[in-house]
Amino acid sequence: MSINAPRGTQDLLPGVSEKWQYVEKVLADLCRRYHYKEIRTPIFEHTELFQRGVGDSTDIVQKEMYTFEDRGGRSITLRPEGTASVVRSYVQHKGYGLPNQPVKYFYVGPMFRYERPQQGRLRQFVQFGIEALGSDDPAIDAEVLALAMSAYEELGLKSLKLVLNSLGDKESREAHREALVAHFQPHKEELCADCQVRLDQNPLRILDCKKDRDHPAMETAPSILDYLNEYSQKYFNQVKNYLDSMGIDYVIDPNLVRGLDYYNHTAFEIMSEAEGFGAITTLSGGGRYTGLVEEIGGPETSGIGFAFSIERLLMALEAEEIELPVNEGLDCYVVSFGDEAAQEAVKLTYQLRNAGVQVDKDYQNRKMKAQFKSADRLQAKYVVVLGDREVENQVVNVKNMQSGEQQEVPIAEVVQHLQQQLPGGE
Ligand code: HAM
Repeated sequence: MSINAPRGTQDLLPGVSEKWQYVEKVLADLCRRYHYKEIRTPIFEHTELFQRGVGDSTDIVQKEMYTFEDRGGRSITLRPEGTASVVRSYVQHKGYGLPNQPVKYFYVGPMFRYERPQQGRLRQFVQFGIEALGSDDPAIDAEVLALAMSAYEELGLKSLKLVLNSLGDKESREAHREALVAHFQPHKEELCADCQVRLDQNPLRILDCKKDRDHPAMETAPSILDYLNEYSQKYFNQVKNYLDSMGIDYVIDPNLVRGLDYYNHTAFEIMSEAEGFGAITTLSGGGRYTGLVEEIGGPETSGIGFAFSIERLLMALEAEEIELPVNEGLDCYVVSFGDEAAQEAVKLTYQLRNAGVQVDKDYQNRKMKAQFKSADRLQAKYVVVLGDREVENQVVNVKNMQSGEQQEVPIAEVVQHLQQQLPGGE
């Protein structure tokens, strides 16, 4: 019996992996311009990190983590998201003591959630994310939002919607929480089992429930925006003003609550509005968090960040029919026939590669015609033809596959010749 990859995981094969490389390069360059530096944290952490960081009452911690006991009897979890790990690392390495604050990180890597797989929802997916730690300036919130939108726009996406909310500070959230409990308590029996628990543990999450979405009490539920105290209101206004001044459009949705526990003040999601994108329209999510650094053992420090999966980004590109500039043809294919030519072909291929030219050749002992067919299939821009007669005369035949033009070039000059002909050459 053959073995397939586990449900909710996928192989990225050549043809697709180039798209990933391209996207990752664009994202890394964007982060360079915004001055966010890469951080790589372990793929597994102590389970307690996520229980404390992501929050015990969240779906992630309650039902979705890949948790196991290692051989030393420790409870280990494959990371379900990146923020808790980045904050753990920031605390462990005393990032808060660095002279330049905020400390700005970006990361790209696999995350694991035991969810019901469907399009855009995997059990292993790759998140790109950023975190800026150590600043309470609303301008940094605006910077994070700007980077998030730019990431999509630079790749050509247009049908985007930035949805913004403020969850306020602790005082505002406490007042809102009381109002929510008072509002939903009379309807408790009518709510789903999860929401009945949420009413006690985290009533805000009721607003995010897919099952109870149409319950009449949802529509009249108290809005967080009516409970923001003066500081929170001012903070939110400043974030909006900065976005306005950069010309970044957004819509406010007071029901945007996010599925992780650590947020306050700014919370946001970016949705795809492309037709045919699929059922899950959220491309990315993020927001500001204050208690997290302390929860993980550091001093009171706040942060803000966001993350998206590259899988959903690629889905959005597909929905908008955007082709990334990848999978272009091979630079050069070396065709050879005869024993001496075979020897020369190995040497020439090696020299060309060392000189930066992308080259391949035949390894199946195929006839010349079949070798040309391979060159065609690989969309080679140039074919270098080498027979025993050419070796004797120390020349090769260089064929431009687009124009059909052929030229005899001394073997000693082929490398230089191709370097000049290929895009990027002089
Ligand atoms: P999240 O909303 O749980 O937030 O996930 C962020 C993004 O990760 C989603 O919008 C989606 O693009 C992607 N994602 C999540 N689950 C899956 C899945 N099963 N399959 C494919 N993609 C998925 C966080 O993870 C927070 N750490 C974001 C953040 C960073 N907040 C502050 N800083």
